[in-house]
Amino acid sequence: MIKEIKKDVFWVGFVDWNVRDFHGYETDKGSTYNAYIINDEKKILVDSVKYPFVKDLISNIEEVFPVSELDYIICNHAEPDHASSIPVVVAQNPDVVVVCNAKCQSFLGMQFDTTGWNFQIIKEGDTFSTGNRTLTFANTPMAHWPESMVTYLIEEKLLFSMDAFGQHYASASRFDDEQSMPEVIFEATKYYANIILPFGKQVLKAIDKLSSLEIDMIAPSHGIVWRSHIDVILDLYNKWATHTADKKVVVFYDSMWQSTEIMARAIVDGAFEVPGVEVKLFDVKATHITEIATQIIDCAAFAAGTPTLNMGMMPKMGEALVYLRGLAPQNKLAFAFGSYGWAKKAGPHEVHAILEDMKMNMLLEKPIQSQFRPTEDILADLRAKGKQLAEHAATK
Ligand code: FEO
Repeated sequence: MIKEIKKDVFWVGFVDWNVRDFHGYETDKGSTYNAYIINDEKKILVDSVKYPFVKDLISNIEEVFPVSELDYIICNHAEPDHASSIPVVVAQNPDVVVVCNAKCQSFLGMQFDTTGWNFQIIKEGDTFSTGNRTLTFANTPMAHWPESMVTYLIEEKLLFSMDAFGQHYASASRFDDEQSMPEVIFEATKYYANIILPFGKQVLKAIDKLSSLEIDMIAPSHGIVWRSHIDVILDLYNKWATHTADKKVVVFYDSMWQSTEIMARAIVDGAFEVPGVEVKLFDVKATHITEIATQIIDCAAFAAGTPTLNMGMMPKMGEALVYLRGLAPQNKLAFAFGSYGWAKKAGPHEVHAILEDMKMNMLLEKPIQSQFRPTEDILADLRAKGKQLAEHAATK
């Protein structure tokens, strides 16, 4: 069902209630692919939807005007979840002009057959009349791809923000104030942690650019439209982009015969001794990497543990650490721990090496290890180190 979000500006996207995997990201609340039309003297489509839902996009547009009357498609980002329906729209209306930056044109051409398309290449700061209103554009590279840009409808103070400020969150209504805010904020946090986190510097530059704009509404490409909590989401992006931590400790581990699990619980017990610090424990077999990343984003300190398997770490721990290394969290105090049977320099050492490679602030020069079952001395040491993590978190 389409929704008029500003006068003559309509949401015409698709709510994907059923998607549960988005290139490895567990989307347990589904998602939306938000596309918008501006029905002015010029008829404009801002972005599109994932290809399987192109019929829904077209029927939504045609509730307002026929696709044959569309004058322009603004493509803010060439990733297929937003661009892969554009070829179908162009095929139905070959006269339509695709408006994008030069890099986006190149990316579109490497993914789709754009032969014969009419392009209008714009640069940052260009203005573009819709008839009675004016659009302008700002490049926001790496939020989320190098060609990413945002479009601003000046008179309505409406920012089409592309992936930035989005959430993988399916809902029947479109605005932030029509949803449970804690749920939306959690999904926005998860989205930032799993998609935007590596690009903090670029996000800060983008926020700096946007700070000169008066913003009355932010219409991202996924999830709800922000109109009542704009300051909240901007403040959160500032916090995340500057890697600001909360008073929080996370312990995650895999275990084979519970020795490493007993060690993990000892760290948590130690951390619990420090009041006012949130402490979380996750078994990587039971918790998806999407959730681990969401918890790591705002923690001040963490510990990662594995037993030794075949002279290395357990595969689920490998998956979690490779994923986290790619997301590049910063400013965390960390250490590795785990058990072994007879290979003393294997699994936990591998975890330690990856944490060093991630440039975590290492609490210890080597992992805390236990040969088979942890002794009371080892558990006491782990409790002390857990307390140290929490004492550090308490300073945040
Ligand atoms: Fe939602 Fe980077 O695409």
